[in-house]
Amino acid sequence: MQNKQELNAFVICDDLYKIFKVAEIEVMALQGLDLTVRRGELVGVVGASGSGKTTLMNVLGGLTLPSAGQVIVDGKNLLKLSTRELTTYRQIEVGFVWQQGSRNLIPYLSALDNIKLPMTLAGITGPQADARARELMDKVDLPQRYDHRPIQLSGGEQQRVAIAVALANEPKLLLADEPTGELDSTTSDQVYDLLQRLNREDGLTICIVSHDPTIAQHVERVVQIRDGKLASETVRRRPLTDASVREARGISADDAESWEDHFEELIVLDSAGRLQIPKQFREDLGFENRVEMDVTEEGILIRPARNLEQTSSQAEIQIEREIRGEDNGAPSGLLARLRGRK
Ligand SMILES: Nc1ncnc2c1ncn2[C@@H]1O[C@H](COP(=O)(O)OP(=O)(O)OP(=O)(O)O)[C@@H](O)[C@H]1O
Ligand SMILES: [Mg+2]
Repeated sequence: MQNKQELNAFVICDDLYKIFKVAEIEVMALQGLDLTVRRGELVGVVGASGSGKTTLMNVLGGLTLPSAGQVIVDGKNLLKLSTRELTTYRQIEVGFVWQQGSRNLIPYLSALDNIKLPMTLAGITGPQADARARELMDKVDLPQRYDHRPIQLSGGEQQRVAIAVALANEPKLLLADEPTGELDSTTSDQVYDLLQRLNREDGLTICIVSHDPTIAQHVERVVQIRDGKLASETVRRRPLTDASVREARGISADDAESWEDHFEELIVLDSAGRLQIPKQFREDLGFENRVEMDVTEEGILIRPARNLEQTSSQAEIQIEREIRGEDNGAPSGLLARLRGRK
């Protein structure tokens, strides 16, 4: 049975794998990635270069099919769509904004004509397309720039027109891959403000890939991808305005008021129970490829395995004993048990 979170899920990536093969060399861009995005959520996606962020965006946008796993957007399993359904999905249901202005906009078309182009491809033309394009230019705060070509717009303005183009066919999901990568911080803030407004006012579900360390301030949740898998999430904790919650936690109203939004990093536990321990922690604590795990009153304690050599040789002795059937009077050895299974 689906739980409540899944019922509200707009995007579900389940154990996604993507393998690229170039000249007999395979690259695993996604390696068992799980991600759920709620309807109307604004999510940031961060991760080192090559960690799989763009690959994930391409999979969500129906531009790349995963090698394995499932991807469901608004109840549609993208792997089960026909070629025609996939084309409609890309045209209507999802909007893209890329880092490079040149990839978003056609240089010899005006801003209005750039916005009308995806509408024309989807069969909307004439006054209806024109009115909607103007409406979108107003929405992205560029009412004076209808006839400007991309080269006559600033970088930030180009990205705002790019957002209007992505919204032309009223998608439910907006994917932005480093939309502020080529902008300074003030201009980036304007683009983030616009994305926040679209999310808040229109309920648009938005995923923004970013290298910007301040992204957490602009979104509700930041997910970090490491080696093609979700590694951690940073969630925004807001000041406690609810008196009963404050009381339950023993926090005074004054304290709560002085408590600004803060961010908390949570490690992701995937559906198979795996979690990634950050490299820094592994190095600082001397973790190698075996750890010990104990349940304590506080939770689970993970520590480097002690006496690893002794442990493995003991294990080998135990296995040998089992195979020979010498295990402390156990009724039968491993071999005997295996033979008994025949
Ligand atoms: N079309 C492709 N063919 C072959 N390998 C690819 C292809 N696209 C991506 N890769 C490889 O997959 C891995 C993930 O690439 P991806 O572009 O998703 O990373 P990214 O997180 O977006 O990086 P960046 O921050 O630099 O944009 C990389 O090792 C890359 O070389
Ligand atoms: Mg990328």
